[in-house]
Amino acid sequence: MTANVTAVNDRPTAFWLRLLEQRRARMYDEQLDLSVPITWDSPEEQQAAIRFFNAAFRAEESGLRQAHDIADEVASWDPELAQTLRLYGDEEGWHRELLTKFIAYLGGDIRPMGPTTGTFYKLYARAKRHETIVLTNLMFETIGATTYRLALRSAKSHPAVRQMLTILTRDESFHVPLNVHFLRRILEHGDPRALHRLRPLYHLLTAALMASAAASRRRAKPFDNIPFKTLARAYAEHLGRLFMHAEDFGLKPSRALLATVGLRRSDLMGEDDVLSVQAAERAADRTQVVVSAL
Ligand SMILES: [Fe+2]
Ligand SMILES: [Fe+2]
Repeated sequence: MTANVTAVNDRPTAFWLRLLEQRRARMYDEQLDLSVPITWDSPEEQQAAIRFFNAAFRAEESGLRQAHDIADEVASWDPELAQTLRLYGDEEGWHRELLTKFIAYLGGDIRPMGPTTGTFYKLYARAKRHETIVLTNLMFETIGATTYRLALRSAKSHPAVRQMLTILTRDESFHVPLNVHFLRRILEHGDPRALHRLRPLYHLLTAALMASAAASRRRAKPFDNIPFKTLARAYAEHLGRLFMHAEDFGLKPSRALLATVGLRRSDLMGEDDVLSVQAAERAADRTQVVVSAL
């Protein structure tokens, strides 16, 4: 790891806790403006939008529960980290509230998960080791931030859709480096072999998440208009970039997998403006929207 990356990325828990407290002070004042009704181009577009935000809702729900569960256990060895996890979980809870309102506004409701997604979340909910939960969550946050950012460019252009996607992009971008911090602290505290055990999971999840882009295209593309190749490549790029910039984890993306979407490791080395800690710091001030720089 270069000195610069360490200096930027490895902030103490107090730094993250302070940012979360600043964000909480403003969080509940931010309201969705749902005053302008949406005119859909087709019923397929509307249904795809409902499915897109249902997937987001499930991710929020899962993030909230896992963060609060871990917080209760972490409290015994690091109360400050536990409080940081709680405030992070509360942000996901706030997203869940916003999405509940937003999905109703789209003319939909919260739907039961499909069999594939349901199995995935059930397996995830059974994970017991903290490092497994946090790595999985970190990778979910990364693909969430990536999907929302791409959707902002190509999804239906409507002020309420833009506002919802902007909030999610901004906050999930903040959650990525925050979860890197959680993973570092949990690995420092726990079994030294834990990092070694994470490696196969990282590779498996990267491949599974790239494959999930195909399933999500069938369900959500009429709304977000993101082609499969663009999404799968963006997932590979950002899941890879994340760990190329946090070399201490030793989780390098597979060359073979990157090659399937036309990427090389060297393509991932440049500055990552969207998922960086600097972006997270900007996102701490909710009036400064990260996506404005896209
Ligand atoms: Fe969220
Ligand atoms: Fe998040």
